[in-house]
Amino acid sequence: MTTVILHDLAFEPFISSKEIDQAVTSLAARIDEDYNGRNPIMLVVLNGAFIFAADLVRKISIPVRMDFVKISSYKGTQSSGEMNEHFLWQSSLKGEDIIIVEDIVDTGHTLHYLLDKLKAQYPASVEIACLLKKPTAYRYPDQPRYEGMSIPDKFVVGYGLDYNGLGRDLESIFCKKEL
Ligand code: IMP
Repeated sequence: MTTVILHDLAFEPFISSKEIDQAVTSLAARIDEDYNGRNPIMLVVLNGAFIFAADLVRKISIPVRMDFVKISSYKGTQSSGEMNEHFLWQSSLKGEDIIIVEDIVDTGHTLHYLLDKLKAQYPASVEIACLLKKPTAYRYPDQPRYEGMSIPDKFVVGYGLDYNGLGRDLESIFCKKEL
């Protein structure tokens, strides 16, 4: 597939399905090894992480539990910094091992907003699994433990990620074309 047009922007192929699959497989193997004998709760950050989470948990062999939060901060192609909390987890998280599943970590504001909320629940542990990270945009000293791929500070869509609601259903990841 070549250029994809979503609303007013054009996107070009950036990360293939094969590369995504390899990254998800290797994250799953690390989680299996690290959580052997435990049943972590995979806390999926909606909407963007739904495809990544579905693939990741099916590659993980240990039995995991699932829960979901819906938080957003992005407007168009920019992180707005202002957090919209639509809903949070349903499970009791006290004493549990939590793995936050994020599609992409950009500034890190969404993640740290969630980490602050989670602290008040007294989980046994909290780690982060993200498919993509933009290291030059990231503003915090701590790093996600499970990181699929580092990408430049560019706007991407596909594999769950959207531009104003479109692009989530693309099988691979596309990058905004610079004009
Ligand atoms: P942060 O709070 O700046 O780290 O942004 C994280 C959230 O913004 C992610 O969960 C995505 O929903 C969204 N986001 C960040 N970068 C992109 C991108 O390149 N494409 C689509 N969504 C993005």
